[in-house]
Amino acid sequence: MACVELKKINKTFGKIEIIPNVDLRIEDGEFVVFVGPSGCGKSTLLRLIAGLEEPTAGDIEIGGEVVTDLSPKERGVGMVFQSYALYPHMSVYENIAFGLKLGKANKGRIQEWVEKTAEVLQLTSLLQRKPRELSGGQRQRVAIGRAMAREPRIMLFDEPLSNLDASLRVQMRTEIAKLHDRLQSTMIYVTHDQVEAMTLADKIVVLNGGHIEQVGTPYELYETPASLFVAGFIGSPKMNLIPATLQGSAQGNRSQIKICGMGTVSLDRGTSHLEDGAKMTVGLRPEHIELEISGPDSGLEVVNVEYLGNEAYVYLEMPGMEDLVVVRESVPCQVQAGQRVTMNAEPALLHVFDTDGRSLPPLASVPTGEEAVQLASQ
Ligand SMILES: Nc1ncnc2c1ncn2[C@@H]1O[C@H](COP(=O)(O)OP(=O)(O)OP(=O)(O)O)[C@@H](O)[C@H]1O
Ligand SMILES: [Mg+2]
Repeated sequence: MACVELKKINKTFGKIEIIPNVDLRIEDGEFVVFVGPSGCGKSTLLRLIAGLEEPTAGDIEIGGEVVTDLSPKERGVGMVFQSYALYPHMSVYENIAFGLKLGKANKGRIQEWVEKTAEVLQLTSLLQRKPRELSGGQRQRVAIGRAMAREPRIMLFDEPLSNLDASLRVQMRTEIAKLHDRLQSTMIYVTHDQVEAMTLADKIVVLNGGHIEQVGTPYELYETPASLFVAGFIGSPKMNLIPATLQGSAQGNRSQIKICGMGTVSLDRGTSHLEDGAKMTVGLRPEHIELEISGPDSGLEVVNVEYLGNEAYVYLEMPGMEDLVVVRESVPCQVQAGQRVTMNAEPALLHVFDTDGRSLPPLASVPTGEEAVQLASQ
């Protein structure tokens, strides 16, 4: 077990800078998840920690020791990849033992270790099977067992579940969470999957073009995204991001913000760094919008209603906005396609972003009893 520290890490491939300058601290025993769009540098960062890539500049410390020049073996990390890459001709036992044999451990110790690992991963009854005789989830557990073979101080996972079907993913997600609880080792996990990130992580690191956009608990990232990028990335369905403009200059703590295709709202946000007419964005989570059916000549048009069994998604057409607005409704859903509706939301639940996409949080503590703003089409 150990903490990991990245200090001013830069990685350039040829002339292309992939990781410009990353500082990050991961605590001992923490479960950290890297998320971000394809190509943003998640795997590169993981490979740098593992020692499979060398940084162009900067240092990596594990357990307080600089490991930048150490080989992967010397760093004490175990890595699990998307493809399990098991040795097909070897049994589960031999696959798990492989890492230990390389380390010239004696036979008794190997047996003891494989049996302990198999028990943790619930593979005891499968030890004599070959990989082809296993399900996807079982194979991935063997790959985890092999990565655990050297009792790594840190376990790294690069999208380990993305080749599995939906129900196996859910099962393996729970297995990995249980494994972390049992081993209490530091784990760094890369995924595209929102639910995996939210459910497994103590701390999520959101990457964008090799930069860290925000680091926080799942709760912090969902409730208080620091930027438009994080707001749009965390949450499914996505937060609705509606173009808006600043009207006049701030009066005390209040700013007048005109939301595209809707009304002007007075909000408790600091906009003194912006000019009159500055372009802004207002973000609204699908579950924070309440709909009210309006007359045929007002409101917004309901384009589609998706029924999911436990809830429904209502899609609205917003003038001046390319994307449809999505609203999460309980079932039975009162709204039907073709109807017109107005939207209401609590002011404290609106996310406001400035021209550069930075979040403007409420200035005062959350006001109590403030009237809901009606965001009806004008
Ligand atoms: N060995 C390499 N040589 C040149 N460019 C590379 C190399 N490895 C990665 N890259 C580039 O670095 C960028 C980041 O790649 P990386 O694999 O870290 O992305 P990622 O976030 O893991 O993406 P994905 O979600 O698709 O796996 C990409 O633009 C990729 O093309
Ligand atoms: Mg990757």
